[in-house]
Amino acid sequence: MPVSAASADPSPVWFAAGYPLRAHNTFGFDVRARLACRIENEADLVAALRDPRAQGLRTLVLGGGSNVVLTRDFDGLVLLVALAGKRVTREDDDAWYVEAGAGENWHDFVAWTLEAGMPGLENLALIPGTVGAAPIQNIGAYGLEMAERCASVRAIELESGTPCEFDAADCRFGYRDSFFKREGRDRFVITSVTFRLPKAWQPNAGYADLARELAQRGLPGAQCARDVFDAVVAVRRAKLPDPLVLGNAGSFFKNPVIDALQFDSLVVREPRIVSYPQADGRVKLAAGWLIDQCGWKGRTLRAAAVHERQALVLVNRGGATGNDILELAQAIRHDVLARFGVELEQEPVSL
Ligand code: EPU
Repeated sequence: MPVSAASADPSPVWFAAGYPLRAHNTFGFDVRARLACRIENEADLVAALRDPRAQGLRTLVLGGGSNVVLTRDFDGLVLLVALAGKRVTREDDDAWYVEAGAGENWHDFVAWTLEAGMPGLENLALIPGTVGAAPIQNIGAYGLEMAERCASVRAIELESGTPCEFDAADCRFGYRDSFFKREGRDRFVITSVTFRLPKAWQPNAGYADLARELAQRGLPGAQCARDVFDAVVAVRRAKLPDPLVLGNAGSFFKNPVIDALQFDSLVVREPRIVSYPQADGRVKLAAGWLIDQCGWKGRTLRAAAVHERQALVLVNRGGATGNDILELAQAIRHDVLARFGVELEQEPVSL
């Protein structure tokens, strides 16, 4: 549903042909864009889309570039989303409504909500990327998905330049999935997200790794959101590589969900398999465990590698290309399918 357009002075910053994208994708792949433009507000975006330089070009939206595998130079226009701003838009007896610009760094935003006394996002601390990317793959970690806190998403339709507002139901969130990843893919640029943070806070500390970390800190049950935040940060730092040090896109595969019948026969052969029963009777498997069991943890293919502490994360050891990563991913998928009969689905988009 269209909403009124913002009216700032349209003055997007354009970058010369061959703009390097290395700093704009968390794998750190050294590829270039034919044209790039920095988007600081909605008017910039509309102006950029109408600009003669953009006509006939494919567009690629990059926030933090945390969910993309760039295999080659991009022969089109890259929109570098840099919309800033965080504010409480509304408050009622039950919740705060907080809006953040799509270009805001996700972790900094989570930290800001806590410092402002509005808990609720602490389980999602330290996830790389931007606020605008969060709804696309419905980021989730340690027992929480952003869908559970999302009130609405504002976006501009690329074809018409029309601003649209999506409520949480319109976003059709699923496990690492949303409308923006499917039917809405390449059709919208998210410009801001509004979160609903309930005032009745309760710790969400049941996830095994998190519960263990809190117990080690002498804080079982967690008394405040800051405890959860600190513990999540510690767990992530221990297991997951920092993209600024070792290029990666977080989990490279989704945890596969299989039907009960397939699980029943699999578990007979593989009694130690890590699994999570789903509400619909199906069973989610830990892809990291499957990959680990196939002996892939820590293995390399040229400069691409499987992270040595979490087999679900593929890394660029320096100088890898997107195709190196895809070749490694293909070898892993082959082995997991051969041993377990389970297909792994790639999480990041490859281009
Ligand atoms: N495991 C292994 N070997 C490995 C990795 C995992 O045996 O190399 C086992 C673990 O011991 C554990 C199970 O697999 O029993 C699950 O591992 P973990 O708790 O690390 O979580 P995950 O299922 O591998 C998911 C998300 C992560 C998120 C964590 C914590 C997906 C695809 N990944 O990983 O999200 O941080 O849970 O909630 O759902 C991301 O999406 O980029 C991401 C990092």
